[in-house]
Amino acid sequence: MKAVVMNRTGGPDALEFVERPETAPTSGQVLVEVAAAGVNFMDIGVRQGMAWTETPNPKVLGVEGAGRVLAVGDGVEHFRPGQRVAWVYTPGSYTDRAMVPADALVPIPDGIDDRTAASVMMQGLTASHFATEFYPVQPGDVALVHAAAGGVGLLLTQIIKLRGGHVIGRVSSADKIAVAREAGADHVIVDTEGRFAEEVVRLSGGEGVHVVYDGSGPKTFQGSLDSLRRSGTFCWYGPVLGGPGPLDIMSLPKSIKIGYARFFDHIHTPALLRARIGQLFDWIVKGDLKIRIGRVYPLAEAACAHADMESRATTGKLLLIP
Ligand SMILES: NC(=O)c1ccc[n+]([C@@H]2O[C@H](COP(=O)([O-])OP(=O)(O)OC[C@H]3O[C@@H](n4cnc5c(N)ncnc54)[C@H](OP(=O)(O)O)[C@@H]3O)[C@@H](O)[C@H]2O)c1
Repeated sequence: MKAVVMNRTGGPDALEFVERPETAPTSGQVLVEVAAAGVNFMDIGVRQGMAWTETPNPKVLGVEGAGRVLAVGDGVEHFRPGQRVAWVYTPGSYTDRAMVPADALVPIPDGIDDRTAASVMMQGLTASHFATEFYPVQPGDVALVHAAAGGVGLLLTQIIKLRGGHVIGRVSSADKIAVAREAGADHVIVDTEGRFAEEVVRLSGGEGVHVVYDGSGPKTFQGSLDSLRRSGTFCWYGPVLGGPGPLDIMSLPKSIKIGYARFFDHIHTPALLRARIGQLFDWIVKGDLKIRIGRVYPLAEAACAHADMESRATTGKLLLIP
């Protein structure tokens, strides 16, 4: 089998495309022929040594993908060879043959192709957590969505609009405005310096927004606080791009509620995984949720996908194709 491994922590050049011995699935595992593996910022965090340090190098990167079942281990009841499946939060997806625990798999419905399924697992489930559970958007709410043309941002914008909210998107360059608009953003601000709050407050009628979704690093943090209305909610979610450092709770303004939203808290059982992804798949089949695949790369070019994502030039989902 072929795989992209990291041999050490570091930049994209720490990744290597290698040949590895293929193994048979053991109890509870499913061997999948990978059609598409998703690229996430989390993979960059793992590469930089911020997560999964307990797994020794060389390790295969990637946490999601879609493909076809090749073989199942003992005790696997709900999957059979030939079936199309997708998975999330399972290490080792940058490969042409992934070994996935059956509990992390979902069947892909007929109306959804493999690349679309791979694109919606991590970022779609994350966006659905943010807008339906962490802060359940109500009709008429105004939300500030950072990185609004990115993988999470485009899906979050659409889910907020489906729930009747308004979206002010923030992007880093003017060429992303049309992309964020196409997903439904009502206004789009271009900023990389953390100077967006005044415009956000103006666009929200002088009161500020009901909710901020911010995974964009330390530079946006203060502006996001300043963009909120009284009793607004700050959904912080960007461990890889970094946070504001230690916070004095008494310095927080306007009775706001602030928290670190994690995909994993939304999807902590196989039943929840099936329910949440079922809703996303339904929206896609009905045409309510559009998946924008920004770029696909051959699996061997995973390092290039990482460099592109870090350059802030990408939009939508990045996929690796074995
Ligand atoms: N908490 C969770 O459960 C969870 C789950 C998934 C992802 N995340 C976090 O969400 C963030 C986005 O990850 P993703 O995988 O979903 O990718 P993504 O949404 O496609 O993110 C790419 C976007 O990030 C922005 N960006 C890239 N480099 C940046 C930098 N150096 N500084 C500031 N912004 C930068 C860019 O937007 P602009 O250039 O337009 O600003 C780009 O469009 C990451 O911080 C990741 O850790 C958290």
